[in-house]
Amino acid sequence: MSSDSPDSSHAGASPHWESMWSSGLQPGQAFDCSSPSSTLVALLNRMDKPAKGSRAMVPGCGRGYDCVAIAEKGFEEVIGLELSETATQAAREYVETSSKKGNIKIITGDFFTCNLPELEGFDFVWDMTFFCAIDPSVRPSWGSVHHRLLAPGGKLACGMFPYSPEKVGGPPWHVEFDDYQKCLEGFVLEERLDKVAEGEEHRPGGFAGLGGPGTGLSIWVKS
Ligand SMILES: C[S@@+](CC[C@H](N)C(=O)[O-])C[C@H]1O[C@@H](n2cnc3c(N)ncnc32)[C@H](O)[C@@H]1O
Repeated sequence: MSSDSPDSSHAGASPHWESMWSSGLQPGQAFDCSSPSSTLVALLNRMDKPAKGSRAMVPGCGRGYDCVAIAEKGFEEVIGLELSETATQAAREYVETSSKKGNIKIITGDFFTCNLPELEGFDFVWDMTFFCAIDPSVRPSWGSVHHRLLAPGGKLACGMFPYSPEKVGGPPWHVEFDDYQKCLEGFVLEERLDKVAEGEEHRPGGFAGLGGPGTGLSIWVKS
């Protein structure tokens, strides 16, 4: 597994994350769901088996639950990218528990500046609680980087969370469909759900038992 250490902090790569991870973040605490996102699991269940050689990526993959779910769907190569060294280690440990561990690679790097050659040409990118984690000022760059990551015709699936205007401040910053649309020049909208079906909501441990903010889903195709 290669690694590309993030060199400096900026609005989209806050030291807050490494502090949070290195303070001992446990499965099921704060943003951690202790399992793959229910929103992703539902999406994968209604997707066809990926074509041979398909590649997928998860920015800000945390403990790597979603990387494992995507690999178990049949994507042959799944890359999880993490700013936090501590999260990278936690994800690598979690990935070891999967029969698909050989198909998954976890890389330490900053989404906005990591230019490894393998970070392009993806068929599927899953962005869940990454968009809401970054400072809103860097959202336009977030869109450009996704455009670079995807192969033509590749899909960017965004779990839109927390989809609730009453949420103030961040991270996580509240998100709405328009926030994504504004940043995704060069993409065509394939699907928009402002509220996912019951039971498919994203439920991080920190929101357990509270009902929690809304979850939406939007899927975009790189034209
Ligand atoms: C809200 S957490 C979500 C983690 C994971 N998606 C989950 O649901 O458990 C956001 C993650 O993004 C990572 N992150 C923040 N800024 C990043 C950046 N610029 N590049 C890569 N990862 C980043 C953080 O370290 C953190 O683990």
